[in-house]
Order: sequence, then structure tokens, then C-alpha cells
Amino acid sequence: MKILCIGDVCGSSGCDALRKFLPKFKAEHQIDMTIVNGENSYDKNGIVKQTSDHIFDSGADIITTGNHVFRRKDFYDVLDNSDCVIRPANYTKNAHGKGYTICDMGRVRVGVINLLGAIYINAPLNPFSVVDEIIDELKSDGVRVIVVDFHAEATGEKRAMGYYLDGRVSALFGTHTHVQTSDAQILPKGTGYITDVGMTGPRNSVLGMDVDIAITKVKDMLPVPFEFASGKSSVGGIVFEIDEKSGICQNVWSFCENIN
Ligand SMILES: [Fe+2]
Ligand SMILES: [Fe+2]
Repeated sequence: MKILCIGDVCGSSGCDALRKFLPKFKAEHQIDMTIVNGENSYDKNGIVKQTSDHIFDSGADIITTGNHVFRRKDFYDVLDNSDCVIRPANYTKNAHGKGYTICDMGRVRVGVINLLGAIYINAPLNPFSVVDEIIDELKSDGVRVIVVDFHAEATGEKRAMGYYLDGRVSALFGTHTHVQTSDAQILPKGTGYITDVGMTGPRNSVLGMDVDIAITKVKDMLPVPFEFASGKSSVGGIVFEIDEKSGICQNVWSFCENIN
């Protein structure tokens, strides 16, 4: 089966680009399942019901999130009640929502796990400590295909997690840093991997943000308003081709496509 994973959708430009891109791409490449990171899909940062609905309407099966997931209180309801929207599993049990889910595609059930990095993001629980139990639970439930969105800042932490889970999950894609890395690969024991899949949003930007605002932020270290850039977008993603019976990744290819 082919699983498409798409990186952080940034604001309305990113949402528009996803809508233009996804249906056509899925048909062209016979994609069986699509996972989209939506944590930045709201223009004022975070994610709201309206943007998660838009992502599903565009063709996503599962939405993953990250460190911005709890910014909008009205989204807590969605987190608590949807089986198709997940937040990082390494928050405490007091957090709204769930950290993993099973997507029933008919002939195959796919487990999707969302994790948050501990380095520079300060996840409440260490992702390495929580992931083993989740994988065991999914496997004892008969799930053979498992995909992880590791939403993390540090390249080394993501690569270490890739090797830690190699052979135990079908694929791991990194999100959060918004710039696609050129290391799409199959790890030695059969896990498809990329350190960061990139973002879906305005390409003339600093990680999706307005350029002048971003420069002020880093140059003068002054508080600045949060504002996404506008203009044409690109979509960053990766396709994992997975053997459904063994859960092993057989092929992987990433892309960053400009949307006009
Ligand atoms: Fe992000
Ligand atoms: Fe993030």
C-alpha cells in the first residue's frame, strides 16, 4: 500500500495549496492513505475545527499535530471526540485527545502514532519512554502497518528515534522544522524514514512566516506578531510503499511541489 505523509500545513495559503494538490496527487499515484500534519493550519497559529475539516475535505485520512495543538481551546472537543485527529502521545494523561489511533482502511488497519521531541521543545514525557508500550499495544491488536509522525526540533533526536524504531514500525516521518531534509531512505531493518518532510505553505517565507516579521524576531529579538506570509505555496511530502503483510517499507520517495 502507498501511504502519503504531508508536512505542516501553514495557514490559509497552506490549506488552499493542499486542496489544489491532494485530490489530483492521490489519483495520479494511487495513494491508499494520507496523513497530514495540521498543527499550524489556522492563520493565527494552531489548529481549529474549520481548518481540520478543510484538511479532511481535501482528502486526508488522519491529521497529526505537535507543539501548537492546544493553542485553541475550541479544538479540545475535536481532540476528545475524533478518532482521526491525534496529538503527541507523550503528553500526560490529563491532556485532551489521544496520541495514537488505528485507521481502518478495509483490507488493512494502519496504526498512526504522533510523538513530540524532548530536545528544545520540552515534551512532558520522553518520547522514547512512551512509544514502546504503544507499539506493543497496536501489535497485540493485530496491527502490522504503523506510521509515526515525530514532531521534533533536533535532527539527531529524530534520526535516533528512526533507528530506535527500525524494524518495529513501517515508517517514521519528521515534522516541525518546516524544511525538507534530503534523507528519505529505508533503514536497515525495513522502516521508511525522513528526518523532516517539510511544510505546506507560502514558499517565499521563513518557515511559513512573513519574512520581515521573522527578520525582526531574530535580528532584534523583539516580540513580534505571528503572521504567515502570503503568496504561492509549495507542498512537502513523502510516499511510503509498504508491504501490508509484513509491515516492511519497500520504497520511499519525497517531493516538494510548487503550487501555482
Ligand atoms: Fe509546524
Ligand atoms: Fe511544531
